Amino acid sequence: MYLGLDLGTSGLRALLVDEQGAPVASAEAQYDVSHPHQGWSEQDPNDWVSACENVISTLKTEAGEALAKLSGIGISGHMHGAVLLGADNQVLRPCILWNDTRCADEAAVLDATPGVRELSGNIVFPGFTAPKLLWVETHEPEIFAQVAKVVLPKDYLRLWLTGEVVGDMSDMAGSSWLDVGARDWSDDLLAQGHMRRDQMARLVEGSDISGYLRDDLRADWGVDEVAVAGGGGDNAVAACGVGCFKEGQGFVSLGTSGVLLAAKDSFAPDPATAVHTFCHAVPGRWYQMGVILAATDALNWLSGRLKQSPAELSALVSEVAGPGQAMFLPYLSGERTPHNDADMRGAFVGLDVGGGDAALVQAMMEGVCFALRDCLEALRATGTELEEVLAIGGGTKSRVWTEMLATVLGLPLALPKDGEFGAALGAARLAMVARGADVETVMTQPDIGEVIAPKAELVAAYEAAYQRFRKLYPAIKGALA
Ligand code: XUL
Repeated sequence: MYLGLDLGTSGLRALLVDEQGAPVASAEAQYDVSHPHQGWSEQDPNDWVSACENVISTLKTEAGEALAKLSGIGISGHMHGAVLLGADNQVLRPCILWNDTRCADEAAVLDATPGVRELSGNIVFPGFTAPKLLWVETHEPEIFAQVAKVVLPKDYLRLWLTGEVVGDMSDMAGSSWLDVGARDWSDDLLAQGHMRRDQMARLVEGSDISGYLRDDLRADWGVDEVAVAGGGGDNAVAACGVGCFKEGQGFVSLGTSGVLLAAKDSFAPDPATAVHTFCHAVPGRWYQMGVILAATDALNWLSGRLKQSPAELSALVSEVAGPGQAMFLPYLSGERTPHNDADMRGAFVGLDVGGGDAALVQAMMEGVCFALRDCLEALRATGTELEEVLAIGGGTKSRVWTEMLATVLGLPLALPKDGEFGAALGAARLAMVARGADVETVMTQPDIGEVIAPKAELVAAYEAAYQRFRKLYPAIKGALA
């Protein structure tokens, strides 16, 4: 048996799979994000440990016999978060998360430093880890002075599981301390970030064994030797869950954030496009992705404002005859691809006195689709072409939204059949490979339920609407400045 742990921003999901990688049982536990100041986003790493104790206790009760046969664990985690550890590995302050923008100034300085983009393969976005440490150095010097190690969120869970300070290539690729092409720490990048190699974790590939479950936990869980795989950052591990690791394969995710990801056989960065280029969770592979910060997050925000659930709001748009008059810029928390703009904010424009809630929801859905089209254009500008694209994430429950996305992207979107194909499955698969299974055999694509084709009769109208959308960013940016 293998266990995939998916440490998400709002909760931990555990999935137990058998020797064939087929799901056996799952459990979930939630935790909070705190926003002590505008732009801040933090979590208490000990909440992740409590969540893990929680899910294991559920699995013990509901699938005790299967859990007792556990031989490997893989972990996926939300990326970029800074967990600062002092001597004896105690947590020095709450983890600063991926969607925290307090260090925009430090990110801009690092990003402008010659050599940083070349070595890290990426823009230094404010969400990344290195600028967070520069912020701590300036604003919390007494804490900075005590930092013995910095680990990423899922690696803190690993520390609790194994007692080892280890990180993996795919997650650390988002730190701005890693030479992403060489898959090793860069002394130059560490120096620019005022960090030292001895403060970094030992690096492994996502499908390597990083350590073994501690004896006391083995006794408590009632298991024998359990290897813990390197695991990876959530998007790389989700790619493992949907068997996306070869050139030409990709997926679009309508999750809290939106992602358009393309697997790469080689390291081919192009930071100027604001595309992310990271190591994959399997050796010798990389991936590129465009990231928008609000996809279903924009729906959730609107749901809060209009006091209707996200499902109720989605249901208001049951059919679309073409682009609406109202338009929406989804930059509620700033934007990564293609603008790299932490200060930008969202907007509705073109509102009509006769328009109701449905017009706002349609504009919101269209705005998210156009922002993902921007990501596709950014990927294309790097020379990347996608042949097959899976569509995943909570937003794909809306048929209209998924059809609109296919039309705006001009790509057929393959919807997996109901079942497991997310990061928890990807993490369990990495554990299987760490225990000797073959990548190609294990990382298969999910069964496809349906392929949603672009709506031919709406392609031209949506293309024209996309061109109008592109004019909004500079115009609104100017107005907000
Ligand atoms: C990727 C990114 C998000 C987080 C949270 O660069 O910031 O995908 O990993 O899911």
